[in-house]
Amino acid sequence: MIVLGLESSCDETAAAVVTADGKILSNVVLSQIEEHAPFGGVVPEIAARAHVTQMDKLARQAVEEAGISFQDLDGVAATAGPGLIGGVLVGLMTAKSISAVCDIPLIGVNHLEGHALTVRMTDNVAFPYLLLLVSGGHSQILVVEGVGQFRRLGTTIDDAVGEAFDKTAKMLGLGFPGGPAVEKASKEGNADRFDLPRPMKGKPGCDFSFSGLKTAVRHSLESLPEPVSDQDKADLAASFQKAATEALISRVQQAVKIFKADYPDADTLVVAGGVAANQALRHKLNELADKHQLKLTVPPPALCTDNGAMIAWAGVEHLKLGQTSPLDLAARARWPLDPDAEPAPFAGHKA
Ligand code: KG4
Ligand code: ZN
Repeated sequence: MIVLGLESSCDETAAAVVTADGKILSNVVLSQIEEHAPFGGVVPEIAARAHVTQMDKLARQAVEEAGISFQDLDGVAATAGPGLIGGVLVGLMTAKSISAVCDIPLIGVNHLEGHALTVRMTDNVAFPYLLLLVSGGHSQILVVEGVGQFRRLGTTIDDAVGEAFDKTAKMLGLGFPGGPAVEKASKEGNADRFDLPRPMKGKPGCDFSFSGLKTAVRHSLESLPEPVSDQDKADLAASFQKAATEALISRVQQAVKIFKADYPDADTLVVAGGVAANQALRHKLNELADKHQLKLTVPPPALCTDNGAMIAWAGVEHLKLGQTSPLDLAARARWPLDPDAEPAPFAGHKA
């Protein structure tokens, strides 16, 4: 079984070809960083236009690099949501065209499920597993019970953690995208210089909150005498990274208790999404996993950030179960993995 996967829900145009046993035959990612950098964040209209100019070429490139032709495909998967709707429509429409012309099944994939299932492609992880899903648009803790089966234990009640990294980088003038820039600056900084809050730490439940931390970074920055030095910036970046990771860890700790009680035979903790590329977070999660006799599994960095392989793989998983989508499938800006979970009042599409 060979599946082509297309991703266009945010600022990466991506296409990949993956086999039923998780072999990645090709994986091309075109980042729009340069287009968005002058604005310090992703501009939806610019993103959508850039996807339009690249997606068809990238799909062809992925098929060629895989050494196959479109006729060899057994299915075509595309992100159908959640995300910036203009971009999602581009990938989904391209996949529909390929599906119609090649007469192969279409699989509309939930972008978050793509992140969530990646470890089954890379490490063959068995269901159920505990997942910390942290990206620019989402911060959630879920039990992945099966393909299309998720139990959400916690979510952000305001901002996503990747968003907090990006906004902190923007305030400090560290560049875009913010996560890697904050992580790099943190290496030169004193993480104990600024006393920042650990939102929700010690509170019951597993929900996150990051908007207060973001505001605290702004107040700390404003309290510094001008000109703000590179050392000041590095110290604030490091203090922010420490606070954000500690806040995340405290919530995962709560989730581990629930997971161990409700799934006594399961033993794997997974972290996925763009923020999973952060080494400080990985380090702390490793400690936590050791303490609770869990195995920590993290996809390689290139498969943590948005890519087509994760979408192709989610397509493979659904296709193996005979689950395909109709050609009139609608794109969705909001698409929660666990529709039964309580909506988080201020999180909007991030929940
Ligand atoms: O999963 P992703 O590529 O796109 C979304 O679906 O949102 O995640 C992108 C997010 C951005 O907020 C970016 O700043 C963050 O992941 N990120 C990081 C790191 N690399 C990417 N955050 C912290 N440390 C990193 N090394
Ligand atoms: Zn993502």
